[in-house]
Amino acid sequence: MRDSVHFLLGDQKQELRQVSPTLTVLEYLRGTAGLTGTKEGCAEGDCGACTVVLNDGKQQRAVNACIVFVPALDGKQLLTVEHLRQPDTALHPVQQAMVDRHASQCGFCTPGFVMSLYALRQSDGTPDRTAVNEALAGNLCRCTGYRPIVDAALDACAAPPDNRPAANLALDTSKTLTLNHAGQTYIAPRSTDELAETLLAHPDAVLLAGGTDVGLWVTKQHRDLKYIVALDAVTDMAGIDESGGIIRIGAGATYEDALDVLQAHYPDLGLLIRRIGSRQIRNRGTIGGNIGNASPIGDMPPALIAVGATLVLRRGTGRRNVPIEDFFTGYRRTVLAAGEFIERIDIPVAAPGQSFHCYKTAKRFDQDISAVCAAFRTTILDGTVRDIRMGFGGVAATPARARNAEAALLGKPWTEATVRSAMAALEADFTPISDMRASAGYRRTIAANLLFKVFLEASADAPRTRLEAPV
Ligand SMILES: Cc1cc2nc3c(=O)[nH]c(=O)nc-3n(C[C@H](O)[C@H](O)[C@H](O)COP(=O)(O)OP(=O)(O)OC[C@H]3O[C@@H](n4cnc5c(N)ncnc54)[C@H](O)[C@@H]3O)c2cc1C
Ligand code: FES
Ligand code: FES
Repeated sequence: MRDSVHFLLGDQKQELRQVSPTLTVLEYLRGTAGLTGTKEGCAEGDCGACTVVLNDGKQQRAVNACIVFVPALDGKQLLTVEHLRQPDTALHPVQQAMVDRHASQCGFCTPGFVMSLYALRQSDGTPDRTAVNEALAGNLCRCTGYRPIVDAALDACAAPPDNRPAANLALDTSKTLTLNHAGQTYIAPRSTDELAETLLAHPDAVLLAGGTDVGLWVTKQHRDLKYIVALDAVTDMAGIDESGGIIRIGAGATYEDALDVLQAHYPDLGLLIRRIGSRQIRNRGTIGGNIGNASPIGDMPPALIAVGATLVLRRGTGRRNVPIEDFFTGYRRTVLAAGEFIERIDIPVAAPGQSFHCYKTAKRFDQDISAVCAAFRTTILDGTVRDIRMGFGGVAATPARARNAEAALLGKPWTEATVRSAMAALEADFTPISDMRASAGYRRTIAANLLFKVFLEASADAPRTRLEAPV
């Protein structure tokens, strides 16, 4: 057992003892470390003013410091805008490009943009305008306008990345991190077995994955989390493997980790993932957390229902397989028993003849929660529907499969008339609600129209009308 968080702040080793496990990295930087270059805008992962970079020795990733808790720094290097200072010149090339392109006015958003761009520049390749837009979708600027910022990004990324010596991450993290502070306990098990044992012993603990939902329980709802079990050190549950026609995603894998394999098999799923939150959110958020959160408007469950994913649930040494559509039992309720957790998500690769379409309907292209999310896997042979699965989010208390609409199409000719009858059958599948995102009527209409859209798109000669990020 170890009772202090070991990490590098820039190049300086730090050991934090007696620290609240829900102290955010932003609070630590500004309040304890005196590094005030990192700003707070929204404290909920939306604006990017607090963007910092976490280096785990393999990758340097931009994250939102406002919703990452300090124990997540364990074993990593934390870089802030202060650490970009150059020994020989006043400004880092990213900062210089921002100056040269007049990409800053009040400057409040600028350190966050600089850190997102630093992470982009350190990643492989020379990004084009679309890649820059994607990397900056989680950074808001209210006064400059994005053209000069994107121009600065293209200038900065045209030059090779910094070749500053890789940080020596030789930090002693060999023992399980366990913090006790002011009535709060935090444990970071180091394997799935240890996680299973810990949750069995503490079934009331909050399971913390990337914290992109849980972080807001603290910063927005001011909840006092008494007992936290974190996935950060459970590396054997973050793997991704593909064999025998199944993609196995460890529940601790982040969206960015899973993106390549999922978009290779299901291009529409890749597009959907690239619209979940922002790069900063996807660098931390997990697919397991999206399912475990059991929100009716989570984006992954509808897609995973349509592709026929199965969840591997684990409690102690026992495991059971549950089709994802059977996982949700009511509004934010699931079949998980006390001490049980999602260990893995098994996704079948598309079989020959299958097509997959999914659509996210939201007010904005980037950084927005769906009003309706819909996904369809179809097998149409000789003009007949041989197989169909439909998953919807935002139209009921849980993400759900549209069984009535599926039944209206299965074995029927794939024609406008049968599709329209399935659109009518959707009425019996769901009872959407009205809220700030959309009215019940809008959700009902959109759900049916998305089924019609898939009919048009799945027809052989119809042009694809998929939305791409505006360039
Ligand atoms: C700015 C912002 C934008 C966002 N945009 C989107 C969006 O576009 N679409 C979308 O769907 N979501 C969005 N989200 C929500 C969030 O990012 C996702 O739900 C994310 O997948 C949560 O994963 P996490 O690892 O951060 O989970 P956490 O916050 O760590 O956990 C979420 C819940 O899942 C539980 N949990 C975590 N792992 C497991 C497990 N292995 N087994 C059982 N339970 C588990 C936790 O106990 C908790 O109840 C956004 C959030 C923010 C802050
Ligand atoms: S302060 Fe807005 S994303 Fe962190
Ligand atoms: S320069 Fe003012 S918010 Fe971006």
